Amino acid sequence: MQAIPVSELKVGMRVTIPGSWFRHPFIRNRFVLNSQKDIDRMMSWGLTRVRVESRECGIPHAVIDKACSTDTAVPEPAETIPPDLMEFLHDSGIDPDCRAAAVKACSKMVMKQLMENIPDEETISAAKNGFYEVIDCILEEDHLNRYLLSIRDYDTCTYSHSVNVGVLSLLVARRYFGNSDRHDLRELGIGFFLHDLGKIRINPGVVMKEGLLTDEEMTEMRRHPLYGFDILKETNQLTTESKLIVLEHHEREDGRGYPYGLYGGEIHEYARICALVDMYDALTSDRPYREKMIPYQALNLIKGKLADRTQRELFENLVLVLGEN
Ligand SMILES: [Fe+2]
Repeated sequence: MQAIPVSELKVGMRVTIPGSWFRHPFIRNRFVLNSQKDIDRMMSWGLTRVRVESRECGIPHAVIDKACSTDTAVPEPAETIPPDLMEFLHDSGIDPDCRAAAVKACSKMVMKQLMENIPDEETISAAKNGFYEVIDCILEEDHLNRYLLSIRDYDTCTYSHSVNVGVLSLLVARRYFGNSDRHDLRELGIGFFLHDLGKIRINPGVVMKEGLLTDEEMTEMRRHPLYGFDILKETNQLTTESKLIVLEHHEREDGRGYPYGLYGGEIHEYARICALVDMYDALTSDRPYREKMIPYQALNLIKGKLADRTQRELFENLVLVLGEN
């Protein structure tokens, strides 16, 4: 296997880093480069070269780049996922890590299309159809789980949070509910992916602000669950229960959440899954006022605050899903 300088790497290559060159308890040593950020991160680890297993993961670099770039023109609602990317999503012949990269790229593209257009009935309906494609792929292909979760460690493109929470919540919900037909995981998945939709109605300067928010900005930011719920109600989209995911995903077990200050059992079960995963994703992401925690630290912190049996069971399922990575 050929070793090449990190500076010559390209998005889409599948690389291997020998354990004697770099070792980290939570980072895999073999993966596909999903964005330029992955390459930058390897440089920040002090790596000067890596072994390239394959120069192409099967998905053209330009396709993944297009999904992650903030400069790309917003796709029209009608197309949502471009045909070339859709092909990779449904091609069971390609390697699971490449397929997982396609799932993530498609999710980001659908999110981008939604967040950068006016959220009317047509736009949200098109996004729903795009997410159904992604959700069906995740639900049908168990073996993609570990690859889907591993991508998260390297990827920091604009819509990552919504996509990370969407994918992980869906995996937790599937494990928690098992094969019960009382729960429509396709519809739940849409709610998970759209949990932060309401941020579209908040001043972008506040949403993107790098420093701490003022009290006034924080009050505005805390309205996003209500805004998201209103958008879905106005556009007549999603089931009532999926809308509740959007409305209640910042409620907390101890009643200190928002917008209503509900307590554990008063919060819808679906929203509790989203809230748990949202908290985990926030703790394991960098923030202006603190560095990100490693998964073990984040899980330990959450474990110390578990309120009741339901939340303990949800937490156990989160740990099991993460353990599959
Ligand atoms: Fe949120």
